[in-house]
Amino acid sequence: MDKILIVEDNESFRKMLELNLKKAGFEFESFGMAEDAISAFNRDIFLLGVFDLKLPGMDGIQLLSNILEYAPDFPVIIITAYGDIETAVLTVKKGAWDFIQKPFDPDLLIGKIKAVLKERTYELKEKKIVGDSQGIKEAIKLTRKVAPTDATVLILGESGTGKELFARAIHRWSKRKNGPFSVLNSAAIPESLLESELFGIEKGTATGVERRKGKITQADKGTLFLDEIGDMPLLLQSKVLRVIEEKTFQEVGGREVINVDVRIICATNRDLKKMVDEGEYREDLYYRLNVFPVHLPPLRERKEDIEALIDYFISIYSDNIGKEIKGVTERARFKLKEHHWKGNIRELENVIVRAIILTDENIISEDHIIFGESMAYGEKVGKIDLKEMGEKARRETEVRIIKEALKQTEGNKAKAARLLNISYKTLFNKINEYNLG
Ligand SMILES: Nc1ncnc2c1ncn2[C@@H]1O[C@H](COP(=O)(O)OP(=O)(O)O)[C@@H](O)[C@H]1O
Ligand SMILES: [Mg+2]
Repeated sequence: MDKILIVEDNESFRKMLELNLKKAGFEFESFGMAEDAISAFNRDIFLLGVFDLKLPGMDGIQLLSNILEYAPDFPVIIITAYGDIETAVLTVKKGAWDFIQKPFDPDLLIGKIKAVLKERTYELKEKKIVGDSQGIKEAIKLTRKVAPTDATVLILGESGTGKELFARAIHRWSKRKNGPFSVLNSAAIPESLLESELFGIEKGTATGVERRKGKITQADKGTLFLDEIGDMPLLLQSKVLRVIEEKTFQEVGGREVINVDVRIICATNRDLKKMVDEGEYREDLYYRLNVFPVHLPPLRERKEDIEALIDYFISIYSDNIGKEIKGVTERARFKLKEHHWKGNIRELENVIVRAIILTDENIISEDHIIFGESMAYGEKVGKIDLKEMGEKARRETEVRIIKEALKQTEGNKAKAARLLNISYKTLFNKINEYNLG
């Protein structure tokens, strides 16, 4: 089950919360600092947050905004000081789900948590591996076998085939399941920051640098998932090799050799063998990683899974979108089965969410099945969010129209603003916001 994220700097109060949540059967992680909670949030899946407002360093409101920026639907219950209704209202306006005033009866908080969970049941459903094809069955069998060992696993497959889903499953099926699952995606982080993200950084390495823990430290006693390992620069490859061989590393700017207890799972959509042949990848690392490869076949090679996946995505998303989907027409199913699915299951998931939004009669027909790049969501977004989707469409349209207006007026912003029927200042702000200047 997913966890509750608690942030409360008052130690005795935090202990009291922990005790009560534990008694009520919830899993949680608790922190005294917002900064630590954010790194936990980034590496793990949480169901909801309970944040105290006054914290040392970053405060509860900043923490809330910070988290909602990445997960606009994440439910947070804010703990406010007695009588401070104004702040409470402010936090709700900023997107908090609810608030509770100190001092409170722990049962009241538990009641609120249960209320959130009831409304958000779709999130309680753990992401499942769906599919009955030979390819998926084989992959599940292999990963079940390797999960309880500490062997390094290399998950191979095109983008969107479920590599991260399987990595998380291996962690859950392993004896480290109660330990952390920490992710480093080499393709998503600029090369210059990768090393410090992975290994952490020693205080004072450059002026003003605070000591920061790396993903590897966060993964201690748990699993480190190195996503897109094919994109890892050569320099770092040798350091990762050392982690695998000796279970030791050094922080950036640090001299001390640190021991760590991690199980490593890697994934890539690239052909590592070919990269080795072309001198882009260390051969020794390749052999270390390739001890236990698991291939996830592209969706187009297991079309028999499509039916089950359609039903699964409808079941997990329709509540969230607020619809009760009664069926999918034959022609719609046909259209879905004929598609090439270059973006694999991620693309299918997006297409289904879009269809649920588009249908008016609770029946998905072929008209609601719309493929296309504009639906391709980033690797990092696990869940598709209605608000975010609308926001994205709005921004794309604005950028296109503003560009067109600037073209027509040969870059004259005052004229363009008039053309668009907005104030000069608004246009100016938008040009800055979208970097069109
Ligand atoms: N077999 C599957 N059953 C259900 N959902 C899946 C399956 N494979 C992938 N998904 C979903 O598709 C999306 C993309 O999967 P992900 O693991 O991020 O792919 P990758 O890391 O290979 O790009 C996720 O939302 C994931 O939950
Ligand atoms: Mg991925």
